[in-house]
Amino acid sequence: MTNQYRRPIVSTRPDPVPCRPQDLGKFEIIQRDGAARIGRIHTKHGLLNTPMLLPVVNPNIRTIEPREMWEKYRVEGLITNSYVMWKHDDLSEFALEKGVHKLIDFPGVIVTDSGTFQSYVYGDVEVGVEEIVEFQRNIGVDIGTMLDVFGRPDMSRDELISAVEVTAERSPISLEKAGEELLLNGPIQGGLHDDLRALSGELMGGISGEYRGFTVHPIGGIVPLMENQRYRELFKILLSAKSTIPPNRPIHLFGCGHPLLFPMSIALGVDIFDSAAYALFARGGRLLTPTGTVRLEEINEWPYQSSELFNWTPEEVRALDSKEREKILARHNLEVTQSELARCREAVRNGKIWLLAEERSHSSAQLRDAFLWILEQLDNPDEGPVGISSMRMISSTNPVRSGGENLVDDIEERPHILHFKSLLAMRWRIPGSWWDESSEEPQRVVIIEGSKPPWRDSSLHTVISCLIDEPRSIILISTPIGLIPYSMEDVSPWCHIDCADEVWDLPLDEDEIIQELYELDLSDLPFIRISPGPSPDERIEGSKIIRDWLDRCSIVDKLSVLNGIAPSLGCKVTSEMTSRRSKTNRMVNVYSGGIHTISPRLNDGGISLTLEGAKMINSEYSSPPLIFGEEFEGDELDHPGLARVMIVDDAIPFVGQGRNVMQGYVLGADPHLIPGQPCLVVDSNGDLVAHGTSITTAREMAYLTKGLAVRVRDGALKYSDA
Ligand code: GUN
Repeated sequence: MTNQYRRPIVSTRPDPVPCRPQDLGKFEIIQRDGAARIGRIHTKHGLLNTPMLLPVVNPNIRTIEPREMWEKYRVEGLITNSYVMWKHDDLSEFALEKGVHKLIDFPGVIVTDSGTFQSYVYGDVEVGVEEIVEFQRNIGVDIGTMLDVFGRPDMSRDELISAVEVTAERSPISLEKAGEELLLNGPIQGGLHDDLRALSGELMGGISGEYRGFTVHPIGGIVPLMENQRYRELFKILLSAKSTIPPNRPIHLFGCGHPLLFPMSIALGVDIFDSAAYALFARGGRLLTPTGTVRLEEINEWPYQSSELFNWTPEEVRALDSKEREKILARHNLEVTQSELARCREAVRNGKIWLLAEERSHSSAQLRDAFLWILEQLDNPDEGPVGISSMRMISSTNPVRSGGENLVDDIEERPHILHFKSLLAMRWRIPGSWWDESSEEPQRVVIIEGSKPPWRDSSLHTVISCLIDEPRSIILISTPIGLIPYSMEDVSPWCHIDCADEVWDLPLDEDEIIQELYELDLSDLPFIRISPGPSPDERIEGSKIIRDWLDRCSIVDKLSVLNGIAPSLGCKVTSEMTSRRSKTNRMVNVYSGGIHTISPRLNDGGISLTLEGAKMINSEYSSPPLIFGEEFEGDELDHPGLARVMIVDDAIPFVGQGRNVMQGYVLGADPHLIPGQPCLVVDSNGDLVAHGTSITTAREMAYLTKGLAVRVRDGALKYSDA
């Protein structure tokens, strides 16, 4: 039986556009969410938009034609094996004469492996280290792979050290043989040893060739772990290797391609997957779904649809001859794989990749175990490579984001929430003076319970009553995810927790309150717990002074917690503060002495600066930021100031007029820079050139040479002659 309704493939997709020669092999980060990134790799056969999957194509068995992958499934790159081609005379002769793109009939990016995996499966391969790279170069591969040494998880430590060292020793000659045109994968080995994975990342990441170093770092030797669903060890390896791999190199999980693993792997920083799963599973009568694998023989209806399956029932597919059945299942598997990757990319763009990983963790016991292990690492990072990656992941996660979040058990361990809580504990301070202009010690903490957001509607009158009764009161709101100062109104997700209304009425238990007060350094004060009163009392009428003081506290506290600005400077910037409010009574513009300096961000509760505000804050610095590579000498400060990015002289006229800062033009950046938060752009004297929002971390700026570093909001030299 043939599928008469299948839409014919019409060639509508044009061939890819080759990159500019100077961009060959460059990786660009377009957007990030924690360790996850939306990126692209520039090649002669177009872009690889990451995170993405390279379907494995066996040059001899093409379950789905590569051309169909390009046309119908929008596959931008695939992976095939150069060793298989090298071994078969007919394939190698054709490839050497006409090129690998003709042989495979694929116009996009062709990645090849080197035969290392065959050596793992069959014991050895006959090809030489230099020979296999030369072959890949000569057949026109885009990204080839050097002949690394496969480090099996069950090898002894000495054997694994040797696998790491021999792979590193083979690297310089491999890069030399690759020449200018062939980009190379530099695999990371090291078995289950964190330190060896970190060593391998450092060695492979540090090797520079005449034209460039490695373009991509695949994590090798992990197939045996995936086969046995040893996901905890898989992610441990990933975090260890990531601690030393330069951040401008995409990370590829060699042999990983089950959609179940995509969200978690991407959340931890994987950019490329490759797998034959779509074809192998189809051959075994199995369907991939984002939550696991399903056997065709066991189902009455499709548990997960795809355009390929719409025309069929499981029974009809079972009745097909095996070749036809295999093709249908393979197409379904590829479609599901592609759509799950699209979902993941979209989740990164929306700041929700962690939520997706959390959701998927419930699909498999092994994945859940691995996920819970990761939460432990985030909550309590150790000093080793895993701890380094975990710390980086939290500190590079934008603590605020727009939109609501479901209240589920894991919510408090989400990286952005951990980050916000740690910033709060480190940087939040009690007010320096009170609404009645007294400046003595606080007298009490008032915890308002049962107060649903927005708090300005549900609790403001109660807050004001408390402050009239005792001006030196610290007001905290009790939320389903803990206590938060009233001044943090609008910060997401505290103010946008999706849960039943009654959940807001559930009081926190006393021990939790005591612990949270301790973290805010308030445990020495007496506290009272109250619910918002039913209606404002008459004293509220004359409370403008208190309202203005609360507004100012909110700005000072947000500048301090989110942007590292010392409260004393925050007070200076907000002296003589006035504000304009929206129809819904939210502060939209903040003026200092009549000058518009700050705009609270209504969508996520953060702060945006105006040029005048940026100037005011920058004038307080006495020295420029450190140049990349310079060591910071001095004490770490809780409030290191609004993060700055220092650019090269050549870029100043452009950025000063309001153009974005491009990677490669950055001389130095403050290490506490948080992607998504405001930053200042300065010259090498520390003078203000512009202000904007950073796209990447300072560490990434030190390495990247392509893409946006800072999205500029306003240039400081716009109206000058510069
Ligand atoms: N394919 C799956 N694992 C590996 C590996 O460790 N090295 C190489 N080159 N290919 C692989």
